Amino acid sequence: MKTALSVKHLVGIKDLTLSDIELIFATADNFKSVINRPIKKVPSLRDVTIANIFFENSTRTRISFELAERRLSADVLNFSASASSVKKGETLIDTVKNILAMKVDMVVMRHSSAGACKFLADNIDAVVVNAGDGTHEHPTQALLDAFSIRENLGNVKGKKVAIVGDIMHSRVALSNILCLQKLGAEVMVSGPPTLIPKYISALGVKVEYDLMKALQWCDVANMLRIQLERQDIKYFPSTREYSMQYGLNKQRLDSLKKKILIMHPGPINRGVEITSDVADSDQSIILDQVENGVAIRMAVLYLLAAKTQE
Ligand code: CP
Repeated sequence: MKTALSVKHLVGIKDLTLSDIELIFATADNFKSVINRPIKKVPSLRDVTIANIFFENSTRTRISFELAERRLSADVLNFSASASSVKKGETLIDTVKNILAMKVDMVVMRHSSAGACKFLADNIDAVVVNAGDGTHEHPTQALLDAFSIRENLGNVKGKKVAIVGDIMHSRVALSNILCLQKLGAEVMVSGPPTLIPKYISALGVKVEYDLMKALQWCDVANMLRIQLERQDIKYFPSTREYSMQYGLNKQRLDSLKKKILIMHPGPINRGVEITSDVADSDQSIILDQVENGVAIRMAVLYLLAAKTQE
């Protein structure tokens, strides 16, 4: 197995090779054992300074990156746009260049604009990690999702994964499709026709508007949140009707003649895309996903830190 990534930045899954993903998983396997030990820290990044720059709200991703950085002994700087000089009109590049002038090696960024991380990677010397850019990609979410499927089902290759919900506004959907396909899974998207982009079949995914048919087909259902904050018009009549047609509840799950894995990237809107009894059931691996996020992000940061020397 190779020992270095083929990329300097993690902007999107589209830039990673299958070998890159396998290397990240093998490295995350090691870090997962580390974080389950009584002493959870390793000195791997003790000479590295990482800035977490979040221009959009986050709970899981921000905390998970910060924990991963601290477990690797990096120096950590947290920057929240809402309390910064961005509010006084400073540009993205000026803001980041000022942070880098303080000798920062890596930048983890979440931004509401698709392409913001690529723009940054093209314009600064530090290593850039995308923590979600608009409706474009959320690469570490896709890696931790695929890693969690591998952990629970033994392998991703040959598995059937249905991604259900607001595909149109989801960066998680695109990154998951690309990652799962690279690993040899079959992918289906399901949801209201208004929330499934017309180009999606060009990515080689199946499209199924009937939730029950999608559930009967799949081994894994990844339930996505309706991203109301990104919707400028109404795509369905009401959340109640959405939930009646596309919400996953215990009755639907129990009517299947098989057990499927239930995933959700969070944050969950309980009672809309998923009911509490499903989210908290023994088929749900939602908290495994959160746990694995730390190991995956440790692996990504550790492997990309080697690129700061190049
Ligand atoms: N899954 C995810 O990106 O969650 P946060 O928005 O809380 O980071």
